[in-house]
Amino acid sequence: MDSFENKLKRLTSFGSWEIIGKDDKTHFTACDGPHGLRYVLHEENGYQTDEPSYAYPTLSFLGNTWDIHLVKQIGKAIGEDCRKHHVSMILGPGVNIKRTPLCGRNFEYFSEDPYLAGMMGKAYIEGVQEKGIGACLKHFAANNREYDRFFQSSEVDERTLKEIYLKPFEIALQASPWAVMCAYNPVNGILSSENEYLLKHVLRKEFSYDGLIISDWGSVRDRAKSLKAGIDIAFPYNDQFLEQLKKGLSCAYITNQEIENSIAHIDDFVDKASQVNQENLENSFDHLKLCEQAVEEGIVLLKNNGVLPIQNTQQKVLLVGEFLNDPPISGGGSSKVTPLEKPKDLLSCLKKDHLKNEIEYVQAYMMRYGLPTPFGYKIALEKASSSDVVIVGVGNMMLEEKEETDRETIQLKPVFVDLIKKLSLYNSNVVVVLYCGSAVDVSDFVDDVASIVLAGYGGQEVNVGLSKVLLGLTSPSGRLAESWPMKLEDTFTNKQVGNSFVEHYDDHIFVGYRYYTSNFIKTRYPFGYGLSYIKTQYNRLSIQEENGIYHIFVEVENKSSMKGKEVVQLYVKDVTSSVSRPIRELKRFAKITLEPFETKTVELLIEKKDFTFYHPSLHRWYLEDGDFEIQICKDAETVIFSQKITICEDYYSQYSRF
Ligand code: GLC
Repeated sequence: MDSFENKLKRLTSFGSWEIIGKDDKTHFTACDGPHGLRYVLHEENGYQTDEPSYAYPTLSFLGNTWDIHLVKQIGKAIGEDCRKHHVSMILGPGVNIKRTPLCGRNFEYFSEDPYLAGMMGKAYIEGVQEKGIGACLKHFAANNREYDRFFQSSEVDERTLKEIYLKPFEIALQASPWAVMCAYNPVNGILSSENEYLLKHVLRKEFSYDGLIISDWGSVRDRAKSLKAGIDIAFPYNDQFLEQLKKGLSCAYITNQEIENSIAHIDDFVDKASQVNQENLENSFDHLKLCEQAVEEGIVLLKNNGVLPIQNTQQKVLLVGEFLNDPPISGGGSSKVTPLEKPKDLLSCLKKDHLKNEIEYVQAYMMRYGLPTPFGYKIALEKASSSDVVIVGVGNMMLEEKEETDRETIQLKPVFVDLIKKLSLYNSNVVVVLYCGSAVDVSDFVDDVASIVLAGYGGQEVNVGLSKVLLGLTSPSGRLAESWPMKLEDTFTNKQVGNSFVEHYDDHIFVGYRYYTSNFIKTRYPFGYGLSYIKTQYNRLSIQEENGIYHIFVEVENKSSMKGKEVVQLYVKDVTSSVSRPIRELKRFAKITLEPFETKTVELLIEKKDFTFYHPSLHRWYLEDGDFEIQICKDAETVIFSQKITICEDYYSQYSRF
């Protein structure tokens, strides 16, 4: 086979997962992610069996930690898992924006906010690549719903693309991922895999990305057209691709130079992958312990009337529901990792954590064909009437939150709501534990129960970490990275359940909390919200400007005798903008640990580019004169401090307004 023919062959994967090296014999394997290594052992008729591996908390769960150091550690652990299996690249992280709570893959994404999502994605990539393994940033771009994802075009204006849907990629690219994966969907009418504007103009030129660009699996319709747009390798192998490339060459639609450019990107990947250290493949730290620590960091306490933590050993505790025994730890699809160990049941975790209370478990429902069906509610209710605290586990099934489909509702299954409401008739201390990957409407029961704990899709150690929080061994410090609306009807996209060839992004930049706050729609639980067992007090805010850099100092005090963590959130409000802008936008955050009664001052730095917007007429980022507010918030709806600053730019850099 001549070398040119071999080059053409390298523009497509070998089989489903392999990148062909410089010689025909050396291949480099890519595997899913992003919630752990999904190493496919066998695939037949679309079914894949994969090797068990650490099932880390999902990206939606990690988003709720607001802890980029932790996310980087997870990346390192996954890098070590890949190295052990001689896998060169993990297919993650996904940084797509959660535009609607209905999106079936929200559990695979960090946030509705581009800055938080981008910073998390950047940390994940840094961690993985520190281990000599490649990360693959995905899905580029505007893949915000699963409905008809191969064909439904995301119709997005330029400013919205730049400020919201491309921004997390722009931030995460600072970590130089070895690869970027294009999305399935068309963007403004052109397939992402054939979209020269996205791949060449934005990714290559504007974002200066010089790594490998790969297709999503099966997203290439014509290999010559995708090559011309910038796809270096098409996955998986398709026996038509070689002919399509030759045909494109024969009519000079594609050029040798374009082929050489892609080969250069592939060779660059191969060079990096070849340098991985294959000695000493032992884990450098305890990955299982990290899974548990991550759970403790990401659990969000949504409601608590004081029933938690359980510290009165005289209280009789009842555990209700199969999910407490066998929790869902992820949604469905390509990111679903087979855990190394079955997730531990909550009862044994509580006992291991030296719970001294009298405690009992009752199944109440069983999972049949992936759906819950009552299995002795009456028994559960009788036991609840004679217990002091009832902990009931409910949530979303893999049939509801999975790749390729969207949810049709954000309600829990009626079977679960019925159980919760009945239990609360028999016991005034019901604690609801939610295992899910995206927002849930809790209005049916929120006023009837004592506490609601979001355990999320927390990976194989979810109940180990949950036990620590329930017993007060850890104060919960998770904060929502996605708004939870009162009801689906409050969302902008509710009126737009995916049902046409085009999804119109008519909400523009007003996504998530940007939409709710700017339209004065109260949410059930806002972006950035989460309760704690400690009481913190924000004492003061001070701002010093030096050479265009704003040093923001925030003093936070722990008023409790318990150690805890706080997420300091900094938003910017443009008071006098000449275009419509959200009421506030997250620009910095920091998660800090506070010892009992400790006071800490956090310094956050922002610069002038953090005040810019993407100008729809100038087609570039633009810093506009005027007044701004630096806001320190408890969450996107609760401002603690606000301080005005005024920006004055060179007169001729501004457009006349008054
Ligand atoms: C899937 C997903 C992508 C995944 C790839 C390989 O369809 O969209 O995220 O990495 O195919 O499984």
